[in-house]
Amino acid sequence: MAKAKLLSGKEVSAAVYSDLEQRIARLKAQHISPGLAVILVGDDPASQSYVRSKTRRFEKLGLFSETLRYPADMTEDELLAKISELNNDNRFHGILVQLPLPAHIAEEKVIFAIAPEKDVDGFHPVSLGLLASGNPSFISCTPKGILRILDHYGIETGGKHLVVCGRSNIVGRPISILTSLKADFGNATVTVCHSRTQNMADFARQADILIAALGQPEMINGDFIKPGACVIDVGINRVPDPTREKGYRIVGDVKADEALAKADYLTPVPGGVGLMTVAMLVENTIEAAEKYLN
Ligand code: GUN
Repeated sequence: MAKAKLLSGKEVSAAVYSDLEQRIARLKAQHISPGLAVILVGDDPASQSYVRSKTRRFEKLGLFSETLRYPADMTEDELLAKISELNNDNRFHGILVQLPLPAHIAEEKVIFAIAPEKDVDGFHPVSLGLLASGNPSFISCTPKGILRILDHYGIETGGKHLVVCGRSNIVGRPISILTSLKADFGNATVTVCHSRTQNMADFARQADILIAALGQPEMINGDFIKPGACVIDVGINRVPDPTREKGYRIVGDVKADEALAKADYLTPVPGGVGLMTVAMLVENTIEAAEKYLN
């Protein structure tokens, strides 16, 4: 029996876009057109789909974006040269390199090459260092989106036990830092679980707020969830499903029916955190462009 309230990424992202309208108008009044360059290397179908949803949103809002597509055998030097060019191209206020990159390209080198003032993904060590020290910075889009959902629905983090399952640089690491900061959206007691954690369910079951960011389809079942918890499902996993036209369906890291029966709050997949990642990318790009306002 469903018990949990669904935390709608559609509702929260709509509120974000509505708030951004005035900021976009102000930029346009000063002839600043916020621009995003997206680099997509290779032909991973999931990455292509993520990039499409990002650039479509820019289009819908009348914002400028350009997707630069390259074959999977592009060299690291070619990619670094392209980033250097984009760093100096004033049409672009933000640069996003869609991850993962092909194995022969060092992701770290590529991320380091992006000018920190254009790092709208918040992956650069300058951005992460500012974030970790509680200073203003670009906050990576998925963690920022999670905080925005909690804020929208009035779910406080202060004093709560927040358990993050996953320690990726994109989600687990930054969200664990953010929520433990002495800040409005922080002050949680944070536990980070990962692939080497023994008995993850024992930790997860202690969470008032559980963030599932493992990339493991439906791994977080009812045994991981404390009754009344708030469960944030970050997973976007494609699992084979011959009954679907595309041959697959999307599931989260959380077993939704079991979570719905136990938790008080759950973000749906799709329609939850994924929509917020796009909204926060738009917000970060607007923020990058606003540095040029008089
Ligand atoms: N791959 C998975 N999530 C993301 C993201 O938020 N940004 C980029 N650049 N790549 C990703």
